[in-house]
Amino acid sequence: MQLITAFAASALLFTGALAQKQSKPFYLELKSDNSSLNGHVLDAGHEGAAIEGLLLGPKASAVPKKTANYYTFNFNYTRSLPNDGQLVWNLEGGSGNDSFSESEAMTLYLDPSTNVALALFYPTNEPQSLSFDHDNNMYIQSYLNDRVNPPQSGNRTNLYNWYMCESNYEGYIYNTLNWVYGTKYGPQNPSCQAVNVTRTFTKSS
Ligand SMILES: *[C@@H]1O[C@H](CO)[C@@H](O)[C@H](O)[C@H]1NC(C)=O
Ligand SMILES: *[C@@H]1O[C@H](CO)[C@@H](O)[C@H](O)[C@H]1NC(C)=O
Ligand SMILES: *[C@@H]1O[C@H](CO)[C@@H](O)[C@H](O)[C@H]1NC(C)=O
Ligand SMILES: *[C@@H]1O[C@H](CO)[C@@H](O)[C@H](O)[C@H]1NC(C)=O
Ligand SMILES: *[C@@H]1O[C@H](CO)[C@@H](O)[C@H](O)[C@H]1NC(C)=O
Repeated sequence: MQLITAFAASALLFTGALAQKQSKPFYLELKSDNSSLNGHVLDAGHEGAAIEGLLLGPKASAVPKKTANYYTFNFNYTRSLPNDGQLVWNLEGGSGNDSFSESEAMTLYLDPSTNVALALFYPTNEPQSLSFDHDNNMYIQSYLNDRVNPPQSGNRTNLYNWYMCESNYEGYIYNTLNWVYGTKYGPQNPSCQAVNVTRTFTKSS
């Protein structure tokens, strides 16, 4: 009995530590040397059934309702690792009694033909871990350096390999947010332009 209680308690602690917390909502804005991209927001746009990409939206200053669902994202994290989490978009559909909602985490979809991975929200068990720095710029952490022989691990690097590119996902062609794999070579997709992605919270609570 005691054993079972202790087990139940530790299981509770374990799930408690892993329980997902969700940040306040925020919108995402691009930083770029290119004025056609700089200051523009990203919006969750349809790329298939319950699949959304991060599409180039209008200038943030031209969007009065940055709280609209397709401009609003969250950061999910655990209490033990508050700066390591997932970018989340909450899909809302239907109306009245047929309405539904599904929380989707961002993942990076990579076709074997390219080094340019498309940021997509869809139901997945393998979301991409990412973080935001003190300037609220989104980045991905790595400890690997395979540009030397033997490859090294142990030095942490914050990578900001975000690009806006014309992407083609199953026939959906849009200007979308992508991640370029590697640090030595640039994107092979000629339309890609380097950007940073900054979050701005829409509520102060
Ligand atoms: C700036 O971005 C726009 C939109 O993606 C693109 O059409 C244009 O070629 C870019 N300009 C430069 C100088 O790269
Ligand atoms: C919605 O569900 C409620 C409770 O089941 C029911 O009373 C109501 O008639 C439903 N409305 C519609 C439009 O189907
Ligand atoms: C994000 O966290 C919220 C709050 O715990 C949860 O309801 C939601 O399902 C989570 N989303 C994902 C994709 O894990
Ligand atoms: C970490 O970086 C330092 C300085 O560049 C280097 O001397 C060291 O070998 C690296 N260690 C690992 C484990 O990557
Ligand atoms: C993005 O931000 C990082 C960290 O501040 C910086 O090193 C990098 O040059 C920026 N990239 C672009 C495209 O502005």
